[in-house]
Amino acid sequence: MNSPQVNWLHDVSVFEVNRLTAHSDHLYYKTMEEARRGGAMNWRYSLNGSWKFHYAANIESRPASFYKKEVDCSGWDTIQVPGHIQLQGYGTPQYVNTMYPWDGISSVRPPDIPQDSNPSGSYVKTFTIPERMKDSPLFISFQGVESAFYVWLNGQFVGYSEDSFTPAEFELTPFISDGENKLAVEVYQRSTGSWLEDQDFWRFSGIFRDVYLYTVPEGHIWDVTVKTELSEFFEEAVLHVEAKTEADVYFILENRDGQIVAEGASPLTIGQPHLWSAESPYLYQLFIQVRNSSGEIVEVIPQKVGFRRFEMKNRIMHLNGKRIVFKGVNRHEFNCRRGRAITKEDMIWDIKTMKQNNINAVRTSHYPNQTEWYRLCDEYGLYVIDEMNLETHGSWQKMGKVDTSWTIPRNNPEWQEIVLDRAKSMYERDKNHPSILIWSCGNESHAGEVILNVSKFFKETDPSRLVHYEGVFHDRNYNETSDMESRMYAKPADIENYLSNNPDKPYISCEYIHAMGNSLGGMYKYTDLEEKYPMYQGGFIWDFIDQALVKKDRFGHEFLAYGGDFNDRPTDNNFCGNGIVTADRTLSPKMQEVKFLYQNIKLVPDKKGVLIKNEQLFEGTAGYKLAYTITQNGIPKYMEEIEVNIEPLEEAYIALDNPFAGEAGEYAMNVSLRLKENTIWADAGHEAAFGQYIYTETQAARKCPGKIKVVEGDVTIGVHGSHFRALFSKTAGTLVSLQYAGNEMIASPPYPLFWRAMTDNDHGNQFAFKSSGWYTSSLYRKCTNVELAAGEETASISFDYLLPISEAVGVKVTYTVCGDGSIYVKDEYKGAKQLPDLPIHALSFKMPADYSRLDWYAMGPEENYEDRAKGARLCRFQNTAPDTIFPYLVPQESGTRTGVRFVNITDENNRGITIRFINNPLTCTISPYTAFELENAAHHYELPSAHYTVVTVAGRQMGVGGDDSWGSPVHEEHRIQAEQDLAFEFIIQPFEQGE
Ligand code: GAL
Ligand code: MG
Repeated sequence: MNSPQVNWLHDVSVFEVNRLTAHSDHLYYKTMEEARRGGAMNWRYSLNGSWKFHYAANIESRPASFYKKEVDCSGWDTIQVPGHIQLQGYGTPQYVNTMYPWDGISSVRPPDIPQDSNPSGSYVKTFTIPERMKDSPLFISFQGVESAFYVWLNGQFVGYSEDSFTPAEFELTPFISDGENKLAVEVYQRSTGSWLEDQDFWRFSGIFRDVYLYTVPEGHIWDVTVKTELSEFFEEAVLHVEAKTEADVYFILENRDGQIVAEGASPLTIGQPHLWSAESPYLYQLFIQVRNSSGEIVEVIPQKVGFRRFEMKNRIMHLNGKRIVFKGVNRHEFNCRRGRAITKEDMIWDIKTMKQNNINAVRTSHYPNQTEWYRLCDEYGLYVIDEMNLETHGSWQKMGKVDTSWTIPRNNPEWQEIVLDRAKSMYERDKNHPSILIWSCGNESHAGEVILNVSKFFKETDPSRLVHYEGVFHDRNYNETSDMESRMYAKPADIENYLSNNPDKPYISCEYIHAMGNSLGGMYKYTDLEEKYPMYQGGFIWDFIDQALVKKDRFGHEFLAYGGDFNDRPTDNNFCGNGIVTADRTLSPKMQEVKFLYQNIKLVPDKKGVLIKNEQLFEGTAGYKLAYTITQNGIPKYMEEIEVNIEPLEEAYIALDNPFAGEAGEYAMNVSLRLKENTIWADAGHEAAFGQYIYTETQAARKCPGKIKVVEGDVTIGVHGSHFRALFSKTAGTLVSLQYAGNEMIASPPYPLFWRAMTDNDHGNQFAFKSSGWYTSSLYRKCTNVELAAGEETASISFDYLLPISEAVGVKVTYTVCGDGSIYVKDEYKGAKQLPDLPIHALSFKMPADYSRLDWYAMGPEENYEDRAKGARLCRFQNTAPDTIFPYLVPQESGTRTGVRFVNITDENNRGITIRFINNPLTCTISPYTAFELENAAHHYELPSAHYTVVTVAGRQMGVGGDDSWGSPVHEEHRIQAEQDLAFEFIIQPFEQGE
């Protein structure tokens, strides 16, 4: 086809023209030395960098003849390749989830595309062919172009392709000229392909992955297929290599130490192979030598080989003979400045972060990733579900409901080839990566013949892997599409229900625990299933990284922007931020929980020792040392390191020396497994697992020494001691002043608080709507009674309150002042029936912002909530009030710590207060903002400057939940039912050094 047609863009039968057959992603070199060295290939020439560029908002306004040799484009702007058009000053990035991005703008139906809003980018690059590549055939590879593009060289049409996430390659040989060549590429944002690319992500376009020229030597092997076969008990491995060429081939297989273990013709057999797994990603190095008729080496392909067997046995997925559990995460390719045009550094950061946090699996949601990612997964050890680029969500799910009136691809044969092409392009490129265990037929595209045929293609072509597809949930007639039962956001109870009914397939959650904003509460309910049900084989958290883009606010300060911030409409707002890491790659406090619950080795200590359960399938614990620390009231008192060697899937109890017996205090036995040596993913000393056992040896009772003087005025009750003064107001109905050594601690007086800044999950399940009576009850109250009971050493002042939510509810706060200046506070709530759940039962006041240094003895060190505290430990840690606010995309509740024994709140001169528990540990939130200020802000830049430290002391705060962010409530046991009576107590006392 020599004349390109604009209507290919909406012709479902044209998705490539002149594109080369997809092939494996191997590299190739001229000599063994070069192949051994690896790295940049001599036969490749990168075209990344500055290109000439012209943007047109619609088809009519594009420079239609720009590709012609004689048309001069030198005066055009430049754009960087790889990169998205919308992040380089043209058009607008737009974030939408399920609806198609033109919803409400154009009423087209597939395969038509919105004609009047189809922006295009015209790209021009001139190049001269480097000497070393002259006189050979010339090809070009586009690793990723969104969503459809036409290519010309020197005015002649080269080809056309769709599918944004797999390579498109063309031969250029017939069109090249000596000297300068003009390469012209016209990229359209919308094409038939766009109907298949309705993933929940930012909508971009452009050349966003590498572009390079390449040539091939004589006898070149275009495609390599490596198949590994293991004998039943893994004593022998056979390597089959298919490498098509007319020339002679010779194979050399080396082990990791560079020793040749087999050579000659395929198949190669080796004894006692080292197996590949995520725990121990052992890779052999295969060299494929191509020799010409005179026996000279003309090409060497270095190909990594991992021997592993992945199979379904007795309805359970097994790797190398062992039941596997995926401790997985979904990952979009994302960078807050570059969008999906991520760098190798980003990938290395991602994979190290995953490994360091005990994540062992990744789903490439929802498209094939850059080739480099799979190499890293092979090398670092990560199990991969490789997902093809197919999502048609907006064609069958509308406003949460299924409506299949115009669903694609379903059973429409005209969509078969375009869909199958995407599967083949992924398979051919990625097939040699041992890390890929499962092919995924795409995401959220309903079910039908078309996808069933995709699944059949994978199964017929590749018996070494299994096939995943979640969409059969919506049409069980196509159940056979998926080898495993895969669901998204099924609740723990639903999963148990499935597993306890003798199912015919094992279970995974391809997405679970929706990490939007302050979330991940109740994740333990899923990981608990690992031990209970052999057919539960894990899940993939949604998701790894927030998709938010750097933008400047009106004062020139950068912030992380979400949908709508670019005036992009329609949009789904901050639904793009569901990561366990932020868009600028910092760990969120949610990671603390992930790391703990995904531990492969479990440590269960007591006073005298520790039970170590090695749940690794293949590795012993010899790579780690066991460090244990005994703390007294949070202070380390005794430390020891010992060797432990527990075989995979074994457990043992190890006795530990504990010199403390009978000495009063609260103790913790902290045990931790630390890496002995540096690895590629973490340094020696890295903690891979921990466990804690807390116990108390008789605590000394506290005394209340010193005398007080009470002055009862008409309005004010004063309690005076030698270094302090507390004033209570009968009109304000509370403590209005607390001076220690003449310094005022109260900037705004304490009142009962029943509200937290709503989280994304709270909004998603309408909690705010249902419980809003507690919002007003936190802002407005009526003090109905003040009582004073004064003695020589203590004075008690109590306040009764009525709340707008209901007259049936009663709240009483009692302050008992002692001679040393401590104030014992008791907050009692008398419940009533038929009221909504309470977000929190707390007392909150403000201190001047000078008091912002915090020193905690609490569950930490990161933020935690009662349904997300498994990964927290009782410890001493320091931070400041502003630090406690985590930059969730939209400001919301954050920074809370449960299990608080005490927290010191001081200024730079060590003046301030201590908040101390009495019987039950507290839940505290100490930040520069009130719940109302946080809730009122849609961006962090909308928050007021910090004049105060807001101290919120709670008996309980409800959990944060996390099953999903669109309806699921916090689990019952982590909610606070309004009909019960509640009470908590604490002490406010002057800060004393040495605490
Ligand atoms: C799933 C979908 C993901 C994402 C998530 C919600 O339905 O597969 O792409 O949209 O929900 O954040
Ligand atoms: Mg979707």
